[in-house]
Amino acid sequence: MKIAVFVSGRGSNLSALLNYPDLINLIEIVAVVSDKIDCKAFEIAREFGINTFTMGEENGKISQNDITSILKKLEVDFVVLAGYLKLIPNELIEKFENKIVNIHPALLPSFGGKGMYGSYVHRAVFNSSAKVSGATVHMVDKTYDTGKIIAQKCVDISDVKNPEEIAERVLKIEHQLLPEVVKAFAENRVKIESERIIIIN
Ligand code: GAR
Repeated sequence: MKIAVFVSGRGSNLSALLNYPDLINLIEIVAVVSDKIDCKAFEIAREFGINTFTMGEENGKISQNDITSILKKLEVDFVVLAGYLKLIPNELIEKFENKIVNIHPALLPSFGGKGMYGSYVHRAVFNSSAKVSGATVHMVDKTYDTGKIIAQKCVDISDVKNPEEIAERVLKIEHQLLPEVVKAFAENRVKIESERIIIIN
């Protein structure tokens, strides 16, 4: 399965995908796309010899239309949003129906939506006094964090002292959950049954 990974920053989930032993013979990451001209995730991509592209309408960036053509040319089958913070253009969503997933650092449908990313999510979870948090991988649709949930993992946060501790525990879970879900897609074990998405083991 040929994959494009969309990123906006650090790239630890990209790294988790690249280093997950079970994925080595199953997937090939052929493009890393960002809204940023440069970011830490691009450095990781370059170390692995993966092409990087910056998408946007501003000068020096590649337009959404051209990115869609590039992904087509690279024969991309599947798109993973790993810390990508912008909305995905409708054109891309239509071209990759049920083939774009996002990882979110909380248990959706709580603590999602516009502006809910990274540390903002963990602060909101901390301030709510919730006792569990976790990670969610969901299908991407035209709005933030509303697509159907594919998989979730929880973590106990009843004893945390600050949002940073939540972030640390959740990130560990993300690095397991995202590769497991991508593996399930690559092995064709993700089924959409009426209203629900299930992973067959
Ligand atoms: C991850 O925690 C990811 O879940 C989050 O951004 C971080 C990116 O880290 N995504 C969102 O908040 C999306 N709403 P990474 O660049 O190290 O993978």
